[in-house]
Amino acid sequence: MVLKIEPLDSRRHNRSDFSCGKGSLDNYIRKQASQDLKRRSATVFVLIDDPDPDVLAYYTLSAYTINITVLDEAFAKHLPRYPQLPATLLGRLAVDRKQKGKRFGELMLVDALRKALHASTQVASLAAIAEAIDEDAVSFYIKYGFQQFQQNPMKLYLPMKSIAELFQTLNP
Ligand SMILES: CC(C)(COP(=O)(O)OP(=O)(O)OC[C@H]1O[C@@H](n2cnc3c(N)ncnc32)[C@H](O)[C@@H]1OP(=O)(O)O)[C@@H](O)C(=O)NCCC(=O)NCCS
Repeated sequence: MVLKIEPLDSRRHNRSDFSCGKGSLDNYIRKQASQDLKRRSATVFVLIDDPDPDVLAYYTLSAYTINITVLDEAFAKHLPRYPQLPATLLGRLAVDRKQKGKRFGELMLVDALRKALHASTQVASLAAIAEAIDEDAVSFYIKYGFQQFQQNPMKLYLPMKSIAELFQTLNP
C-alpha cells in the first residue's frame, strides 16, 4: 500500500463512503466533483492508499480573480493597480474522519500549494486563496501562514511569493 495523490478518476476512485463531518464537502466529492472536472470549473485531486480506491482526502483548484480593494494595504501596495488580479482558488480541502490527525490535511495543503506555484510559472497567479467552511478551518489555514481578508474573514490568502519561499526553504 502506498499513499498517492491523483487527479480524480470517477471510474476508479471510491467516494461513496467519504465522510469528513461536513455534509457539503461530503456531497461535493460524492456528487458534484466529477461534473466540475468535466466542465473544467475545478480540478480535483484525491489521496488514496494505492491500490485501495477509497478516497482518504481531496482538494480542488481553480483559476480565480480577486479585487484589489479586498486586499490588505501591506500586500496590495506591491501589486499593479489593476482592478482584478489573478489568483488560484483552493476551493475545498477535506480529510475523511477516520483519517484525521495523520497529517493528511497538511500533506494535501502542501501538495495543492506546490501545484499552484508550479502552474503560476505558466499562467500568473499572485496568491492562493482558501475558502474556509468554518472557524476551525480558518485556524487550520492560519497555522500555515494564510491571512484572512478583512472584509470576509472566511476567505484567506497566501501570497505566491511566500509559497515560493516556503518551497525554496524545503528544497534549496
Ligand atoms: C481541517 C482538516 C483538513 C485537517 O486535516 P487533518 O488531516 O486532520 O490535519 P493534520 O493531521 O494534517 O494536522 C496538521 C496540523 O493542523 C492542525 N489542525 C488540524 N485540524 C485543525 C483544525 N480544525 N483547526 C486548527 N488546526 C487544525 C493539527 O493540530 C496539526 O497541527 P500541529 O502541527 O500543531 O500538530 C480536516 O480536519 C477536515 O477535513 N475538516 C473538515 C473539513 C474542513 O474543515 N476543511 C477545511 C477547508 S474547507
